[in-house]
Amino acid sequence: MLLKMKILLSTALVACTLISCIYCADVTIDETKWPELAPKYCNGSRQSPINIKTSAAKADSTLTEFTFTKYNDKSLLKEIVNTGKTIQVYFNSGAKISGGGLPEEYESLQFHLHWGNGSSVPGSEHTVDGKRYPMELHIVNKKSSLNLTEALKDPKGLAALGFFIEVRFSLCILFYILFNSLLRICVDRTKYYRYLGSLTTPACNEAVVWTVFKESIKVSKELIDLFSTMVHVNGSSSPLMTNVYRSIQVDQPVTTQSSSSSVPSASIALVIMALSLVVGKI
Ligand SMILES: *[C@@H]1O[C@H](CO)[C@@H](O)[C@H](O)[C@H]1NC(C)=O
Ligand SMILES: *[C@@H]1O[C@H](CO)[C@@H](O)[C@H](O)[C@H]1NC(C)=O
Ligand SMILES: *[C@@H]1O[C@H](CO)[C@@H](O)[C@H](O)[C@H]1NC(C)=O
Repeated sequence: MLLKMKILLSTALVACTLISCIYCADVTIDETKWPELAPKYCNGSRQSPINIKTSAAKADSTLTEFTFTKYNDKSLLKEIVNTGKTIQVYFNSGAKISGGGLPEEYESLQFHLHWGNGSSVPGSEHTVDGKRYPMELHIVNKKSSLNLTEALKDPKGLAALGFFIEVRFSLCILFYILFNSLLRICVDRTKYYRYLGSLTTPACNEAVVWTVFKESIKVSKELIDLFSTMVHVNGSSSPLMTNVYRSIQVDQPVTTQSSSSSVPSASIALVIMALSLVVGKI
């Protein structure tokens, strides 16, 4: 199974050409240079990612359940791209999110991943009480009423959903790959943190409503290790893509559900689907 996954993954990645990221100037430049590259935002005061201090997160009753539209439709996954800085998967139009305390409906654009160097060197962007997870998946969404140019200038123009990924042997992925279906085991109840921040790559636009889910996605160690051992920056002779995350920025006010409320989970099913897509099962 693992070998098959590796072959599929490498085929998928070799097939991908280097396409520049729609938001980015040149993300291959060292992040300490970003403030010079894009001073308007990268040197701003509501930058992401942040370390979430759980004890400082204030309760907010408006943080309701999310509604995911068309997220069970595989035809929405358009293409997988190696941007040189991450693996990004674009959606065809039609996938949407709403609820979750967002001001309006948002259209889902793409998801991408952040990682470190294998399961032993974690590389999530956000940290929680100082803990960095092995990987983090970001689903990027744009206000349906705005085009991307407008959304990048709106303080809530984009909504990013962050899911931590960590190691635990889980039958989810396996079942998904084998049977193309999701068992209830894969869907769980989840709560999230909310804050206003930015894109984590230049131009670091301060246009992002961040949602960071508390419950992590559990995947096998081998799957996490694949990213830092199989994905190259630009072709197989170039360096491996490792430590693909921005460093922690200045704290922002964070809210979350009150401890008594119970918010049903985001569709973890999608995330599992996303991961299986990344490993080549489309
Ligand atoms: C970034 O902000 C710091 C502190 O406000 C300032 O000293 C520095 O010159 C700024 N850098 C750029 C490139 O604007
Ligand atoms: C990643 O880990 C591998 C194996 O432990 C090591 O050889 C390599 O130097 C590491 N790469 C970076 C960038 O730290
Ligand atoms: C986005 O919308 C604005 C205002 O309606 C318009 O001026 C601009 O041309 C649009 N940009 C794109 C890329 O469609």
